[in-house]
Amino acid sequence: MSLQSATADMDLLGMEFWARPEKERLADFARLRERGAPVFFPEPRIPFVRSGRGFHALVRHADVVAASRDARTFSSEPAATSPEPPPWLSALLGTPMVNMDDPRHARLRRIVSRAFSPKMLARIEAEIQATATRIVDDLIAEGPRDFVPQVAARLPINVICAMMGIPERTRPYVLRRIDAMTEYSGVRGSLTSPRALRLLGGNLKAIADLHRLVARLGRARRQNPTDDLVSALVNAEAGSGGGGRHDGERLSLRELGSFFDLLLVAGNETTRNALSHGLRLFTENPDQRDLLLADFDGRIGGAIEEIVRYSSPIIQFRRTLTRDHVLNGHPLKAGDKVVLFYPAANRDPEVFPDPDVFDITRSPNPHVGFGGPGPHLCLGANLARMELRIMFRELYDRLPGLRTTGDPVPLLSSFDNGVKSQPFTFSRPS
Ligand code: HEM
Repeated sequence: MSLQSATADMDLLGMEFWARPEKERLADFARLRERGAPVFFPEPRIPFVRSGRGFHALVRHADVVAASRDARTFSSEPAATSPEPPPWLSALLGTPMVNMDDPRHARLRRIVSRAFSPKMLARIEAEIQATATRIVDDLIAEGPRDFVPQVAARLPINVICAMMGIPERTRPYVLRRIDAMTEYSGVRGSLTSPRALRLLGGNLKAIADLHRLVARLGRARRQNPTDDLVSALVNAEAGSGGGGRHDGERLSLRELGSFFDLLLVAGNETTRNALSHGLRLFTENPDQRDLLLADFDGRIGGAIEEIVRYSSPIIQFRRTLTRDHVLNGHPLKAGDKVVLFYPAANRDPEVFPDPDVFDITRSPNPHVGFGGPGPHLCLGANLARMELRIMFRELYDRLPGLRTTGDPVPLLSSFDNGVKSQPFTFSRPS
């Protein structure tokens, strides 16, 4: 097959491609994988947006793993997201660590890892359980309508607010701003339309409001540290070796704002979508659901990895080559962009036998749904696993007959494999 015929009808960043049924997209990814070499896709120029000439699509598991691992060659700067944010935006809001290389990245990752320490996770576990119980209490009172707003959207955002120590009374304010931020996602194809510009304006204002809010919290915790996460982030910890403290090892208030944004972007929609995909996958594969319910504790770990592999809640991140490099036999040039397509790597038959089968007993399951191995591997993966485990246990323990009742309404996006709406049902417990 010629290069032309393999890619002529594909525009991997165009919304027409992402509007197509998932089955067709996966078939296109399979065609690209079979080519063996990364295929180059030119990118249209969009005013005010740095998009570059185009990118090489990495769709094989081996290529995604190699690029994730070798961060010196495959840089996350100037940005791992596409389109790349314009410089004025980074100047205004700060740079999230996902768009940084070492040593800046390593410093930030060291500090914010405090948020995901076993001690912090153990503390947040009780909050997650309480939120999951409240969600199911409300479900029983309201009856089933739409799984996304009633369940999936509620848990992760409350967990992030709880982590950041945002009091209950302030959460409705935060949630309204987050809605304004997420309204913008998925409109990339029309960045210059009046609607997109209006949404971008609302988005920036919402982000600025949230930055102000967490900066206030950070300032208060600097003055009166408690044992919560914000205190741990904005105050330097005693160095383990010499016992000294220095400012390099704490977040500035501006960095705290960027970290909050990153949690909201990285930890909210991802987990929410994994919950929705999970319920649908258990419904479509009742044998797998029965297997899980026969031994929940023994099977839930494998089930969560399989949900993340099969659904790939994040579609892609990008890297920029720092030098000429041969990737698994394919030459790339300094300055080239590559886009790592996780859904394609996660269905690579070279690594996953029967990749289109949802199998919660799959072992090993070296999926790249949380990113490939390397310095940017998802920092919140264990938190996401905990949220999914607690929420599915609460749902299946208390709601007999829980299942989806129709197709989901997908979010049109080349970044989030999102679910806007998912009809479902259950019988009221007697
Ligand atoms: C099922 C849920 C999730 C999925 C599928 C997911 C996916 C990913 C992926 C693919 C990356 C890699 C970025 C790269 O290589 O450039 C990543 C990074 C990251 N994720 Fe997650 N994520 C999830 C949940 C979470 C949660 C719950 C949090 C926190 C509350 C979180 C925080 C982060 C952070 C901070 C990074 C950046 C790490 C770095 O640059 O060092 N994620 N995630």
